[in-house]
Amino acid sequence: MSPTNSSSSTPGGGNTTRAPLVKEKLEHFEKQVAFIENAELKKIAERYQKNFQRFLEIISNSFGRLWDLGLSTKDMPTINLGPIEEDAPTTDQIQLQTQTQTRTREGIQMMPQCVNFLDQNIDVPPEGIALSDVYTLYKKIGEGGSGRVYMAKDNNLDIFCAIKILKIMQERDQKRFFSEIKLTAKLRHSNIVNIFYAHHVMMYYYYVMEYIDGESCDSIIKKRALTEDEVIDIAIPLAQAIEHAHHNSIIHRDIKPANIMIDQHGAVKVCDLGLATVRALNVSTHPGSGRIRGTPVYMSPEQITESSELDERTDIYSYGMTLYHLLTRQLPFIGRNLQETLLTICNPYILPKNLQAIVPKISTGMSKLVLKCIEKKVQARYQSMEEILVQLHNLKKGQASS
Ligand SMILES: Nc1ncnc2c1ncn2[C@@H]1O[C@H](COP(=O)(O)OP(=O)(O)O)[C@@H](O)[C@H]1O
Ligand SMILES: [Mg+2]
Repeated sequence: MSPTNSSSSTPGGGNTTRAPLVKEKLEHFEKQVAFIENAELKKIAERYQKNFQRFLEIISNSFGRLWDLGLSTKDMPTINLGPIEEDAPTTDQIQLQTQTQTRTREGIQMMPQCVNFLDQNIDVPPEGIALSDVYTLYKKIGEGGSGRVYMAKDNNLDIFCAIKILKIMQERDQKRFFSEIKLTAKLRHSNIVNIFYAHHVMMYYYYVMEYIDGESCDSIIKKRALTEDEVIDIAIPLAQAIEHAHHNSIIHRDIKPANIMIDQHGAVKVCDLGLATVRALNVSTHPGSGRIRGTPVYMSPEQITESSELDERTDIYSYGMTLYHLLTRQLPFIGRNLQETLLTICNPYILPKNLQAIVPKISTGMSKLVLKCIEKKVQARYQSMEEILVQLHNLKKGQASS
């Protein structure tokens, strides 16, 4: 409920309607603050609360007085807020506050509402939630270990986009995130999801991407098996996208079916490229309860053991593992628990099943290609995406002629 609605519905209602209105607003705000679990955010919100209390009273009374007199806002006298309190928000905080206020009638509540909503992982209301003065979140479209992806709208350009909001990161990772995303955003390739913008609201870092109206390969293979021809049609553009990244000295580091989208026209779009910080949120090391959290099944042995500096060949492994999964809907190195899975991936004596043993229709050429990608020894794999592309084109030609 905003001052506008309430007062216009009760013209000349006098102080009796205004007093409860302020009280109601403050109570609502207090409730929101109570929901905030994050200590740092709570401290800031409480400071706002104190200042808002005064601000709301003045605004509400002033508006009420104007409406009582039948005047409009342009007749409103300048409000003197009096001396600034010692713990009043800084200019930056106010700026952030006003930026997030502008798109809503409930202005003042906006900043905490948005952050509060992110804290609690509750559904987006149908009217959306303003993330900033430009972006409104409308629908959660996915959730991974590193954060949540929303369908959103760029209100300036009036276009839909996708926004990935990351889990709270440590300060050093926030810096690393920005340097990584700057490099990734420079990539231009028809099979790589474009990145438009990156910023943060309080401690929530996010990036804005092209919205892909389609489905991830992960979700496709949960529903049905893909034929070898279909997989080749994904594998070629996927390899071209990764090759383009490699040429620009960027390693993807997180190739997996969930990061490959197929749009409505069948075009392949690769997401989450080169974002080691984002990947680290998904599969992060933490002492005590085993080193790795998340799903490491597409990770190369060297990525798990951190035995050597990672290069393009770690992507070749994950690429091969992705093709293995798309072709057979099975993963070769799975243990009964995380520990066992990690050991299975790294153990040089545990070999993957031949793909034809799972799906007899798969060609020998394709089976060999995939197995060469997922060799545990780095040197035994294909050494570049170009080599893989040559093989894939041969396979495609062979299939066309047979
Ligand atoms: N740009 C996008 N457009 C549309 N949907 C997307 C986009 N990016 C990600 N998604 C969807 O969100 C899901 C979750 O993404 P993400 O958080 O990156 O999880 P994961 O860690 O599994 O990759 C993806 O599997 C995909 O379905
Ligand atoms: Mg992803």
